[in-house]
Amino acid sequence: MAAEQDVRVPDMRTVALGRSGLKSSALGLGCMGMSEFYGQGDEAESQRTLARAVELGITMLDTSDLYGRGENELLIGRFLKGRPRDSVLIATKFGILRDPEGPEGSTHDRDLDNSPEHMRRSCEASLKRLGTDVIDLYYVHRHDPRRPIEEVVGALADLVREGKIRAIGLSEVSADILRRAQAVHPIAALQSEYSLFTRDVEREVLPACRELGIAFLPYSPLGRGILTGRITSTAELSPNDLRLASPRFSGDSLARNLALLDRVRSVAAAHDATLGQIALAWLLNQGDDILPIPGTKRVKYLEENAGSVAIRLSPAELAQLDRAIAPEEVAGSRHWVPAAPVQGQG
Ligand SMILES: NC(=O)c1ccc[n+]([C@@H]2O[C@H](COP(=O)([O-])OP(=O)(O)OC[C@H]3O[C@@H](n4cnc5c(N)ncnc54)[C@H](OP(=O)(O)O)[C@@H]3O)[C@@H](O)[C@H]2O)c1
Repeated sequence: MAAEQDVRVPDMRTVALGRSGLKSSALGLGCMGMSEFYGQGDEAESQRTLARAVELGITMLDTSDLYGRGENELLIGRFLKGRPRDSVLIATKFGILRDPEGPEGSTHDRDLDNSPEHMRRSCEASLKRLGTDVIDLYYVHRHDPRRPIEEVVGALADLVREGKIRAIGLSEVSADILRRAQAVHPIAALQSEYSLFTRDVEREVLPACRELGIAFLPYSPLGRGILTGRITSTAELSPNDLRLASPRFSGDSLARNLALLDRVRSVAAAHDATLGQIALAWLLNQGDDILPIPGTKRVKYLEENAGSVAIRLSPAELAQLDRAIAPEEVAGSRHWVPAAPVQGQG
């Protein structure tokens, strides 16, 4: 094992999760890739990464019953064994169904079930896999237009009252759905894709979170790795890597997207930082309600990512980064093609 770097995170500020009373570190850890989608995981290194996250003051662990078809929750359950339960916040999700026989990493075998019955069954199954008696933050993984959000949040509020979950989260919903959900029960957090490459949430969703006092958790804050500048060819990805089918990685898109990063290099150099650290710092510097959850399965990357918390970007640098990459310049949609039944995979 490589020696741990001396990483100092001077002030791991906290972010309030809405009105739930829960507070998380401003940076979380996305655990998805430890079990599926981004190449082969390694149990020992994943466990070291989780332990190092806690040492660095990272308290938000993000998972879902989808990731590795439950394996990611089992992995976190093994991590939690013998540790004080309150040393981390566990966020997991329910509602996306997968074909149990479908291939690993597949995005085309999905449906949604946000019914109260499925929610309750999923919650019990997640609690069991995680080896805990309460989930801190329970997300509806995707809104299902066939089922009113009021009904879904009403059923989640029952789980809060029963002590099975502490707080309710939504993922990838519109401002309108968010408002309707909040009218039923306070929503603690919204998780959607947000990065220097994906900025649609800035128009309506982020302002709605701010108006309603809901924490915003950018997922894929490193553009699924592109924003670190370290994936230079899809030949580096393993055959079952989900990103091989991503429009942002396919054809000449990856090269075109990597070229855009040249415009971020001067800010990185000014802070003696990596491109990935600047991508995360740009999000962290957007406000005290933003909690990026970069994903990694390696201690090395985790430590580097944690360093982003210490980077203070000046208003001029933020403006420079805002202008650096126009959304229409990013090659390829963030959605998979042909359209999968459930978009915004992960
Ligand atoms: N709500 C949703 O629908 C949804 C969708 C997608 C993701 N998520 C959540 O959000 C989390 C983060 O998103 P994401 O994992 O899709 O994308 P991401 O955080 O943008 O990127 C993850 C990728 O970047 C690589 N990486 C991380 N730090 C790096 C560094 N310092 N240098 C070089 N490469 C680095 C990782 O490599 P390694 O894997 O090799 O460490 C991984 O391949 C997920 O883990 C998951 O929990 C939620």
